[in-house]
Amino acid sequence: MPAYSASAPGKVILFGEHAVVYGRPAIAVPVSQVRAKAIVIAEPRSPRGLVRIIAPDVGLETSLANLPEDHPLAVVIQKAIAVMHISHIPACSIQITSTIPIAGGLGSGAAVSVATLRALSALLGRPLSNEQISDLVYQAELIYHGTPSGIDNTVITYAKPIYFVKGKPIEILQVKKPFTLVIGDTGIKSPTSLAVGDVRSAWESDHQRFEQLFEAAGVIATHGRKAIEGGKVETLGPLMNENHDLLQQMGVSSPELDSLVEAARSAGAMGAKLSGAGRGGSMIALAAPEAASTVTTALLNAGAVGTIVTEVSKT
Ligand code: MEV
Repeated sequence: MPAYSASAPGKVILFGEHAVVYGRPAIAVPVSQVRAKAIVIAEPRSPRGLVRIIAPDVGLETSLANLPEDHPLAVVIQKAIAVMHISHIPACSIQITSTIPIAGGLGSGAAVSVATLRALSALLGRPLSNEQISDLVYQAELIYHGTPSGIDNTVITYAKPIYFVKGKPIEILQVKKPFTLVIGDTGIKSPTSLAVGDVRSAWESDHQRFEQLFEAAGVIATHGRKAIEGGKVETLGPLMNENHDLLQQMGVSSPELDSLVEAARSAGAMGAKLSGAGRGGSMIALAAPEAASTVTTALLNAGAVGTIVTEVSKT
């Protein structure tokens, strides 16, 4: 049976989460150590049009027809069919696995969608462009996210460090000097939509203060870009600390995130901040490569349920 497989990485937001929803720039990088993978296998002996979906990591084994209409996978697949001008999908199975922690701030949902669309469009002989894939995943994010900026689907689709402004063309960052990030997972599941919704309510009730916080985060992202493109890794750490401070003021940190951030800094990280929507999920620390294992140990001792060391490579 013909089988097509595709995978997509996780991501972290280096600077500017939340503020990016309100038009400020942000920076995100892919995390290739964790990935979502989809294998699509044609099953010509199955009943016509039966699309089986098997995702053991989330206990899902069903058919496309039985998925709720607003399920992110159903949304991306149905929208992709329309974009590809195809009337129906031939009988097949879609097997989805992922090593990206779910609701952990690393983009697991978007990565599953990207991998599925790539494998499915290969089976159908209509490979979709990155732009089409990113756009389709954004449509799905609109449903379970509320008001996404589009940064997650973009960085995961292109799998490159990006400087992102909502609604503007994607800019791939030139990384002059590689740098190492240690990611710590609080183990607390935090759906993006909740934190994004709470920030929206807070912004609605105190517009001026939140606009100032978003503006300051945007300025940090532009300085971060200069540091990355100029190979000035040493200036990234203090910028991350400042960004964490702003995120605390936005109300999206948590005692668990703060204690991992503190533990990383005390263990010699050059800077640390929460990454993604916050409340739970993950934090990131910038570490000299030789300090990454000390920072990892400190994070585990401070309660992280998982850690990843990733290098943002020269581009
Ligand atoms: C989530 O990874 C980043 C947020 O800024 C939401 C978004 O940009 O859509 C919190």
